[in-house]
Amino acid sequence: MRDLTDSAVVSTLAPTKVAILGAGRGGTALLDLLYRIPSIEIIGIADRDSQAPGLQRARDLKIPVTEQAEELIANHGVNLIMDVTGDPQMERVIHLHRRPGADVLSGTASRVLWELVRHEANLQAELFHAEKLAGIGHFAAGIAHDINNPLQLILGLAENLVDETDIKTVHEQAMEIVEAVKRTSAISRDLTQYARKTSARDDVVVWLNGILDEALKIARYAASFHDITVVKQYEAGVDVKGNPDELLHVFVNLITNAVHAMDQGGGTLTMTTRAGGGATSVSIADTGCGMPPEVLSRIFEPFFTTKGPGKGTGLGLYNVKTIVNKMIGKIAVDSRVDEGTTITITLPSSEEAPP
Ligand SMILES: Nc1ncnc2c1ncn2[C@@H]1O[C@H](COP(=O)(O)OP(=O)(O)OP(=O)(O)O)[C@@H](O)[C@H]1O
Ligand SMILES: [Mg+2]
Repeated sequence: MRDLTDSAVVSTLAPTKVAILGAGRGGTALLDLLYRIPSIEIIGIADRDSQAPGLQRARDLKIPVTEQAEELIANHGVNLIMDVTGDPQMERVIHLHRRPGADVLSGTASRVLWELVRHEANLQAELFHAEKLAGIGHFAAGIAHDINNPLQLILGLAENLVDETDIKTVHEQAMEIVEAVKRTSAISRDLTQYARKTSARDDVVVWLNGILDEALKIARYAASFHDITVVKQYEAGVDVKGNPDELLHVFVNLITNAVHAMDQGGGTLTMTTRAGGGATSVSIADTGCGMPPEVLSRIFEPFFTTKGPGKGTGLGLYNVKTIVNKMIGKIAVDSRVDEGTTITITLPSSEEAPP
């Protein structure tokens, strides 16, 4: 099994050691961005306010935090001090405590950097949404099928009612019509909820078994489950802290890929959840076509697809990886040509008690 998250970039140079001053919105965004760059080591983040959001985020990432900026500025190892406090006094504090050789990024330069980080975050959000909407385009056939069944039923019942005189039968058939209409409106509700823009709720406790069931429901519109057996191996009370919309998006992508891989002759889709040792894992396994090494090594690249024109954007797994990285998780892929693929996502579990 290959761990593609860790092996992505191996740097031979010593990492640049960075200290971040300020743990408000700017500091938090900087932390999230720099944390993902292998050639950068964040040696700590400081903020006078012990409740600043970046300090909590840093604790989750196991990065040292302090309320004393001076301590961090005077640190022997630091190569770059990034000041995003917006505090005019900080320049003097840095000047007094910094070691020779430590560079400083502050004032306008750090504001420009913050703008760039924000710009990147907006682009990423647009990309998620574009990929989701492109995927929904493929739902048309599934939706038409699922809406057509209850519509046909409603038509048949309504035709019967035209000549029906027995009040008890009229009542029963009217109830069946009500149920059929409820089923069609549930379809449009599921899809409009999925299509909406991802919310900013990043630290909600999410029960993974429920999200997987919801993803399965959505994926049924995106791909044909003909001749596919679905097996659920769920452990009870498996949870993570994250953004439920993003997690739903991750699992819809993985399930859709798995089902597409089995479009020749069907197979088995197995969804497994496990918890233990502070981590939670979800596996989506298929018995489909599998991937040769030259495909496997590229699947997380943006726009990489082996699907025909108009069939895939190649952004699915790129977005999955971005979301999992943000959650400090890992992705492992085990794939064998003509046997199938298992993708396992491991995430830190939330410390909530089960419901
Ligand atoms: N379970 C799988 N089995 C076999 N191949 C897979 C599997 N999952 C992904 N792949 C391969 O990885 C490629 C990239 O997947 P990704 O989800 O990023 O894009 P896509 O599925 O091609 O397009 P989109 O997700 O936008 O519809 C796929 O085209 C396919 O070749
Ligand atoms: Mg895909």
